[in-house]
Amino acid sequence: MEVIITADPSSASRVAARRIARLVRTKPDAVLGLATGSTPVGLYTELIRMHREEGLDFSSVRTFNLDEYLGLAPDYPASYHRFMEENFFRGVNIPRENILLPNGLASDVPAHCGAYEQEIREAGGIDLQILGIGSDGHIGFNEPGSSLASRTRIKTLTPSTRQDNARFFNKPEDVPYHVITMGIGTIMESRSIVLLAFGAGKSMAVAGAVEGALSASNPASILQLHPDAKIYLDEHASSDLKRVDYYKWVFQNKPAWQADS
Ligand code: GLP
Repeated sequence: MEVIITADPSSASRVAARRIARLVRTKPDAVLGLATGSTPVGLYTELIRMHREEGLDFSSVRTFNLDEYLGLAPDYPASYHRFMEENFFRGVNIPRENILLPNGLASDVPAHCGAYEQEIREAGGIDLQILGIGSDGHIGFNEPGSSLASRTRIKTLTPSTRQDNARFFNKPEDVPYHVITMGIGTIMESRSIVLLAFGAGKSMAVAGAVEGALSASNPASILQLHPDAKIYLDEHASSDLKRVDYYKWVFQNKPAWQADS
């Protein structure tokens, strides 16, 4: 696990975008795992800029999103289909047929979840998974208590997550109770992980994930077992970490042969 602390969210987003761009340039048919929420918006904006201004080519990239609300049609304003369209897909050249999100209107949810896992396997697995983190440590929509070996499935949101996400809906009661999410086991199989967290509201969840005990009570703590997980933070999100000075020193004093993080 590598912790990268930058002055502000836009610096962190730029550093993370460079890492993703490097992957796409070296492996044009890379499989990306994508996340929603306000946190990765700056990262997507930077990737769109790189596509437009630097010719970063996504024409062979495939994508799988982490999650979707059950019961929401793709064009519903707060759906994750719509979020991805507005914040990323419309700005880059990923072919439509290469984009997959869980279907919030699936009639047979277990069958749909099994098929989603199968699609990921057939694509050769996810090369790099982008993650945010909930204020309770959730990744995707894997709420505290989720099996650390879970696969794509239905989950029920906690009251605090419904409250956190109410800002994307007209009324708090419009937030669905149920979602489809990639499991923690699914996420852990991706070859690399890029987790972003910004703001003081995430500092406790980040401290638990990075320096706390491995526990389903903080699902992101499973990333301590991932061989290639990088955690990009702003100063506020890092404020409850004990080893901040060490993480900063490591990042600023990398041997020249180590690639740009
Ligand atoms: C939702 C998403 C998560 C995301 C989290 C945090 O619950 N399912 O993938 O990490 O929100 O969102 P935000 O980035 O808006 O704080």
